[in-house]
Amino acid sequence: MSTRYQKVLADLNTSPKRWLVTGCAGFIGSNLLETLLQMGQTVVGLDNFATGHQYNLDEVQKIVGPEKWAKFTLIEGDIRDQAACAKAVKDVDFVLHQAALGSVPRSLKDPVTTNDVNISGFLNMLVAARDAGVKSFVYAASSSTYGDHEALPKVEDRIGHPLSPYAVTKFVNELYADVFARSYGFGSIGLRYFNVFGKRQDPNGAYAAVIPKWVSAMIRNEDVVVNGDGETSRDFCYVENAVQANILAALAQPEGVNQVYNVAFNARTSLNELFQYLAKSLGNNGVVYDKQPVYADFRAGDVRHSQADISKAKNLLGYEPMHNIVQGLEVAMPWYTQFLR
Ligand SMILES: NC(=O)c1ccc[n+]([C@@H]2O[C@H](COP(=O)([O-])OP(=O)(O)OC[C@H]3O[C@@H](n4cnc5c(N)ncnc54)[C@H](O)[C@@H]3O)[C@@H](O)[C@H]2O)c1
Repeated sequence: MSTRYQKVLADLNTSPKRWLVTGCAGFIGSNLLETLLQMGQTVVGLDNFATGHQYNLDEVQKIVGPEKWAKFTLIEGDIRDQAACAKAVKDVDFVLHQAALGSVPRSLKDPVTTNDVNISGFLNMLVAARDAGVKSFVYAASSSTYGDHEALPKVEDRIGHPLSPYAVTKFVNELYADVFARSYGFGSIGLRYFNVFGKRQDPNGAYAAVIPKWVSAMIRNEDVVVNGDGETSRDFCYVENAVQANILAALAQPEGVNQVYNVAFNARTSLNELFQYLAKSLGNNGVVYDKQPVYADFRAGDVRHSQADISKAKNLLGYEPMHNIVQGLEVAMPWYTQFLR
């Protein structure tokens, strides 16, 4: 664990704060919620359950126990509703804004709703947080912002053209955050997540991410469908690394604010390699999968390769990811095997 992270955790321990996690019933949001409550923090959550689930919150409640759970307040509401945003940020120190509609294919199918939630909702949150005078505003940006820029590894200030409506919305978030800093002196930090995975990532539905979708297929002994030739690569980031980045960002030093950061591990894993890792990890958890993958067409809007340079987050935030993909899968797999059987 980095020295900076140790110090931040120790400070929060002695002086607990009040946090708002939007999208708290979703995958990353519920992991943030769990960690913050475990650390004795007070948390307000805002979610409309569009893609999040009550059972994610129930699981966090069970893990943290009644005393810590008592420090959580859920506001069921929509970030497209300005009043809900204003209510959620009241008396909050730090905002971790995760609520959005994820998925490139979803945005291609329904760009209008993705735009409303991810851009208008984001703007509502920025305005509410600015007006409430919160100490810091950290938001979920995305590696999709690199678009068609082919250079690897991805460095924060070199981006290409967006390849999907989803990517546009995440880039616009960064533009609005920047303009709020210039126009109103309201600082924020964007975290460009790269394929985050871990417990409570939804395996169901048409827009499931690759890891839960394949694990789910493997457990059911169904075919695993690879979009393309399997040499498409990603920098898979275990969710604990993303949680660490959020907490460090919320307590960043002034020079670290008004920036965007890559949040990843800085490794590249092809889909063919991922398939092998998953089969092996499932095997370690008592699930034998001996089918070969089925190759299908490339998926529209997907970037071919992705790998992050994470030196900016290391240098300015003290970010030190603790789990590579194999270590992350080792921790996450027992959850999937339990959840999906
Ligand atoms: N998971 C990844 O790999 C990844 C990668 C890049 C960026 N992101 C971003 O990280 C954030 C969290 O993603 P996730 O994977 O946890 O997704 P998720 O779908 O599990 O969580 C999103 C949460 O936001 C809530 N939400 C959606 N629309 C809302 C609205 N209008 N009002 C209030 N709540 C709403 C959902 O109900 C859900 O609980 C998103 O902003 C996403 O775009 C995720």
